[in-house]
Amino acid sequence: MTRKRIVILGSTGSIGINTLKVIERFPQQFQVVGLTACNNYRLLEQQIHRFAPSHVAVAKQGMDYLRRHVNGRKTKISDVSADIEEIASLTSADMVVIAMQGSAALKPFLSAVRAGKTVAPANKEALVVAGNILMKEAERHKARIIPIDSEQSAIFQCLEGQDRRRLKRICLTASGGALLNVPESRFDQLAVHEILRHPRWKMGKRITVDSATLMNKGFEVIEAQHLFRCRVEDIEVVIHPEAIIHSMVEFQDGSIIAQMGITDMRLPIQYALTYPERWKSGLKGIDFFKLKRLSFEKPDLEKFPSLALAIYAARNGGTLPSVLNAADETAVDAFLGGNIPFTGIYKVVEKVARKHTIVRSPSLKDVLEADQWAREEARGFIYH
Ligand SMILES: NC(=O)c1ccc[n+]([C@@H]2O[C@H](COP(=O)([O-])OP(=O)(O)OC[C@H]3O[C@@H](n4cnc5c(N)ncnc54)[C@H](OP(=O)(O)O)[C@@H]3O)[C@@H](O)[C@H]2O)c1
Repeated sequence: MTRKRIVILGSTGSIGINTLKVIERFPQQFQVVGLTACNNYRLLEQQIHRFAPSHVAVAKQGMDYLRRHVNGRKTKISDVSADIEEIASLTSADMVVIAMQGSAALKPFLSAVRAGKTVAPANKEALVVAGNILMKEAERHKARIIPIDSEQSAIFQCLEGQDRRRLKRICLTASGGALLNVPESRFDQLAVHEILRHPRWKMGKRITVDSATLMNKGFEVIEAQHLFRCRVEDIEVVIHPEAIIHSMVEFQDGSIIAQMGITDMRLPIQYALTYPERWKSGLKGIDFFKLKRLSFEKPDLEKFPSLALAIYAARNGGTLPSVLNAADETAVDAFLGGNIPFTGIYKVVEKVARKHTIVRSPSLKDVLEADQWAREEARGFIYH
């Protein structure tokens, strides 16, 4: 049996590490051919020793260190900012897992689909920023996209074998994040580490903050709109604090199919890697008798205005989602650095979004320019 050859972009992050854990369980089935990281060259070094990829890329300051420490191995070491697109389209790769954070994933994502790879994105920013462009290019180059983001994986699984024309709506579930039961009046009194304590998922910092504002859920609405080619009006966000149902789809006959599982990203990662097969994961299942009940609530759009803003951006499209993502990333960084309060995140993003003139049917250049413009505007609002 030939092994599936895998590239992981962002192998040192939460999703990247979990992807390598899945791969480690199936050494006869998977081979790692490429890994990329940004600053964490020490972890990348360990991964090179463990998985022996032929290509790696890291930020410039880590390259010398790796050259000295992985000497003797046949691993080509390159600069992540210059060479990531090349690694995303390696001829020796079958599948590219996009586990890196931020809109920096857009170009390598595009490069992977243009090379006709099977692409497994956990990254949501690329689809938010340029979903239309990516999906069109994927279609043109017959590149299959199997999402890893747990809600998108759930929807993908629920739609498997179904007639998509009979889809009535998607119910995108949300655990509600760290602030679901915290009164709004206390938001700015909470320390950064309290916001970073997600009740259900252990993730990178930005996505954890975005889960607290519900901006993350808004980004997922935009992601789902592109991945499943549906209208924003047909996607409903449902707060489901137990986070057992990862999303549902309803068909025109009124039947609803839900995908459930424990909150462990190795599940959707493994599904993408083994698709269309399902292999033993070794993960524990759900004990329904301990769980007892599943609950659902409507999202409170006044308490969490970022969700409403993202849905507005999904409806309006063009360059607005790119602006929203860039302004949000800048504002979240400022919050994590102690430069703005928690509620300042929304205020910054809203101001930048209001100031933006939307470019309809944007080119790649347009979305990238909108991204840069939004970052500068956001920095202006934060630091002046
Ligand atoms: N974590 C989850 O459970 C989860 C669930 C669903 C979706 N997602 C999505 O998956 C993506 C990754 O999330 P995460 O939680 O794994 O993030 P994370 O833990 O912060 O990891 C980010 C990864 O991206 C790399 N990276 C950061 N900036 C980069 C750049 N400019 N160029 C190249 N590589 C860069 C980092 O490298 P260094 O560490 O070496 O600096 C690291 O490997 C995000 O888009 C997130 O929204 C995550």
